[in-house]
Amino acid sequence: MTQKVQIIIDGKTIDLPVLKASLGRNVIDVRELIREGMFTYDPGFLSTASCDSSVTYIDGEAGILLYRGYPIEQLAADSSHLEVCYLLLNGELPSASEFAKFKQEINNRMPIEEDFQHIFDGFNKQSHPMSMTCAAVAALASCYHEGFDIYDKDHRREAALNLIAKIPTIAAMTYKKSIGEDFIQPEEGLSYAENFLNMCFGTKGKMANVSPTLAEAMDKIFILHADHEQNASTSTVRLAGSTETNPYAAIAAGIAALWGPSHGGANEAVLDMLTEIGHESRIEEYVAKAKNPNDPFRLMGFGHRVYKNFDPRATVMQESCHAVLNELGLADPLLKVAQELETIAREQDYFIERKLYPNVDFYSGITFKAVGIPVKMFTVLFTLGRMPGWITHWDEMLTNGFKIGRPRQLYLGPTARDYITINKR
Ligand code: CMC
Repeated sequence: MTQKVQIIIDGKTIDLPVLKASLGRNVIDVRELIREGMFTYDPGFLSTASCDSSVTYIDGEAGILLYRGYPIEQLAADSSHLEVCYLLLNGELPSASEFAKFKQEINNRMPIEEDFQHIFDGFNKQSHPMSMTCAAVAALASCYHEGFDIYDKDHRREAALNLIAKIPTIAAMTYKKSIGEDFIQPEEGLSYAENFLNMCFGTKGKMANVSPTLAEAMDKIFILHADHEQNASTSTVRLAGSTETNPYAAIAAGIAALWGPSHGGANEAVLDMLTEIGHESRIEEYVAKAKNPNDPFRLMGFGHRVYKNFDPRATVMQESCHAVLNELGLADPLLKVAQELETIAREQDYFIERKLYPNVDFYSGITFKAVGIPVKMFTVLFTLGRMPGWITHWDEMLTNGFKIGRPRQLYLGPTARDYITINKR
């Protein structure tokens, strides 16, 4: 029997159906409320399911993250980012032949035409790579707009392949622009992560010496970031996409949302914070600032809107981070500060009571630094990883049917009043 929730408005009882989830919390379907002349109020969407989805499941209390049902730990250990892309897009893992075809389809789309590269001429070395990435992806809309039908699934698939293929090339171009070097095009025969690292660290006529440990760590980071259900940037992609806009434009909107320090910008903010702290002797001072309710300072890389015990991605990332540091032989002093901060957060009441644990950005920031990626590039790498998630959610929305996203409000402004001409004020 369908479970119902009753609410009483001015003495009238209204039955609201409860929609059953395959895992996790059920949701109260409040769509009928509009007929009763009322809206629900939920700033920040803390209690709101904005859509139904079959892509990713998170249990924040238990620290569980599943892509299409598969635990993130298993995917990070045994899969590859491109296989995860296939899984997200198609709902199932590929057979060997399906995967070989998919990899080839991605490889074929990785190069960026020379004409298009001039988009970067409008930027300079100081331009933020996230701004360049956002602009370049938005600009792709101009190449794939005429004749593009968002209701044609083959067109949508082409957009998905193209975005997953081109984002490493664009990301590497933003890096090359910022160091004033020539762009490097992708190479056949390199893995997705190797190609990205080679496009960053290779030079004309000289391939980068990419160690398997670094390529593997990078691939893991991409897997860990590939999707995270209805987070701010994914919700932005869905909201923009719900206007039937071009998918490249919708994804560019998601990239803009990701940039903020409360979302994807956190890994950059982590490194800035660790650098500012600088030494273990100053940790207590910063922890006190974080705990002071009158000080806006927060420990970057701690806390999560959804994970309230531990972030399963952080566990994988912590191991990967140590593997990279061991291989490179770097005794990064910032890692000491990071480790000490982690211990304090796990021991002190302030953090325990508020369930503030290190999140994935805490360790990914340190790994990126060790690999030689400049801090300003960190969120671009998150963009690269999140691409399959965004495009899968956009595709799911188009496939399942949707309404234009149009939230309502609780109006608290002035009531109607007459305009007074300026000379009478
Ligand atoms: N350092 C110190 N105190 C914190 C922190 C922090 N990082 N995060 C939350 N708090 C405190 C906050 O002050 C509040 O205290 P009180 O109850 O005394 O007022 C309490 O914890 C609850 O905070 P909240 O803002 O209601 O929590 P939220 O779930 O809305 O915020 C968050 C989640 C991620 C925005 C927040 O924890 C934060 O700003 N963290 C630092 C930035 C960061 O690392 N962001 C990356 C998130 S993971 C990447 C991703 O998946 O996108």
